[in-house]
Amino acid sequence: MTLNDVRKKYLKFFAERGHVVIPSASLVPENDQTTLFTGSGMQPLLPYLLGRPHPAGQRLANSQKCFRSEDIEAVGDNRHTTFFEMLGNWSLGDPSTGVQAGYWKEEQLKWFLAFLTEEVGISKERLAVTCFEGDEKLGLPRDTESAQVWQKLGIPKERIFFYGAGKNWWSRSGVPENMPVGEPGGPDSEVFYEFTRVEHDIKFGEHCHPNCDCGRFMEIGNSVFMEYRKIENGFEKLSQRNVDFGGGLERITAAANNEPDVFKVDIFQKIISNLPSAWRDTRLQRIVADHSRAIVFLISDGVYPSNKGAGYILRRLMRRVFAQIQVHQATSFSGLDTLPQGVQADLQAIFTAVVHAYENFYPRLDVSTVNTVSRDEWEKFREVFRKGRKEIQKMEIIEAREAFYLSESFGLSYEIIKDIAGEKALNLKKEKFDEEFKKHQQISRAGLEQKFKGGLADTSEMSVKYHTATHLLHQALRDALGTEVRQKGSNITPERLRFDFTFPRKMTDEEKKKVEDIVNEKIRESLPMQNVILPLAEAEKTGALHFFGEKYGDQVSVYYIGRDLKIAYSKEFCGGPHVKNTGLLGVFKITKEEAVSAGVRRIKAVLA
Ligand code: ALA
Repeated sequence: MTLNDVRKKYLKFFAERGHVVIPSASLVPENDQTTLFTGSGMQPLLPYLLGRPHPAGQRLANSQKCFRSEDIEAVGDNRHTTFFEMLGNWSLGDPSTGVQAGYWKEEQLKWFLAFLTEEVGISKERLAVTCFEGDEKLGLPRDTESAQVWQKLGIPKERIFFYGAGKNWWSRSGVPENMPVGEPGGPDSEVFYEFTRVEHDIKFGEHCHPNCDCGRFMEIGNSVFMEYRKIENGFEKLSQRNVDFGGGLERITAAANNEPDVFKVDIFQKIISNLPSAWRDTRLQRIVADHSRAIVFLISDGVYPSNKGAGYILRRLMRRVFAQIQVHQATSFSGLDTLPQGVQADLQAIFTAVVHAYENFYPRLDVSTVNTVSRDEWEKFREVFRKGRKEIQKMEIIEAREAFYLSESFGLSYEIIKDIAGEKALNLKKEKFDEEFKKHQQISRAGLEQKFKGGLADTSEMSVKYHTATHLLHQALRDALGTEVRQKGSNITPERLRFDFTFPRKMTDEEKKKVEDIVNEKIRESLPMQNVILPLAEAEKTGALHFFGEKYGDQVSVYYIGRDLKIAYSKEFCGGPHVKNTGLLGVFKITKEEAVSAGVRRIKAVLA
């Protein structure tokens, strides 16, 4: 079964059960300063899980693009990826809280099992499930209800396992103790697939269980029963009980094929078949396949390599690919001349293969920008490579700490360092280097977990204002510079907006002034910001902008600025939230206009 088949079957299955299929949100959260990337399907839906009515109703489903940077170093084995798609379905509120369209454990577990067995063809005997065993100290009860549902559905008792909060509790910040006040979470029930065929080098003993790491079992879906919110000294019930389901599309496809190596899924095989024949090493193939997929999706969502935030993570991915290729292609690193030629052409073929593999579902993947960014970054990499070599020349001795510094600062891999440093690195051992890496990775992972402690997705008054101002700016740029202007990315904090768009050159001062004047005029006109839900074809006919559009559901939410949809000043496919009237925005001022990459400009602006 192919990846596209599984995605299509899933969305159809849930659409037939009353779910509105919503588009994937961007990999870069727009109104959420708490995290760099969208890492789960529920993240963009947070306000709706907390009670805001969703424009598309109470039953939602989608396939969400996700990226998890914690897993970068693990990529290379048979199942870790940085980018993945998470199939998701949600019930926002359930009948017990007055939402008649909502559902709860019985429907959720029944449907997911039916999807796996009837649509994907997985045999029930291969499944094992886990439930929350409860936590007395925290006053959280054991989830016997889910276990009973599973038994009724024909999962034998011996295949139902109970675990504590470390495994069967889900919130964005992990276990209950780590959750900030206000954060929602709940017990979950995971489904595992047991492979009949395991790789030759994997042994499992008699104590193996679903959450064991040996590779015999793989988690393929997680139903979270999100009914709690953290308070100062424990938990309170949310005003609505939600179902939040997420399942890795690549993993479900691998299970459907009884194939423990996710890189054997058709999409990865298509990408790997475009690698030069000299790149035979399996680990190299997996790293290039995973990272190039992530690179294409991240850049298409407006991320550019830089030294901080999301851009830094992208840079690490790109340099890891470059360095891996070097190690495998070159025989010696003694001189820069040995840097392999033709790598860019090889990479472009790979990026193009990624786009071809995905374009039916993600028509906006932007291979030409990806290629431009890749060329730029390659040049920068050569530069740091040169500097890194100089640094190595200056060093007396290179052990794990020095090597880690070189790898972090210059993007040089262990293998490259070993090779260039020669005698100086005689005492450098892979094991010690890995240990050093792990130490830092733990620090950065702790950092990531910390991030969610910052609180919830930002729907503060100022951020909502900046969101509306962004729509005005988008249209004003098109008025002032032409319709070649397309949104590439947007990021909002309570202090400012940031907007990336396609445009080939620096804006003149007159152009900037003109854009400011237009936005301020629309603010002075006090135009209403209004929202309609329309069938997709009708929504498209309105001319509403939807550059981030991938696949939309049948019903889409359009926000328009003006009294009447037909003659509205701005129209965009958008989930909100927005202010009710542009008159509330204050005075709009552009504070910066700069390049982010060839053909893409960035504006920062404030409301005073
Ligand atoms: N939000 C849940 C997860 O990411 C479904 O596992």
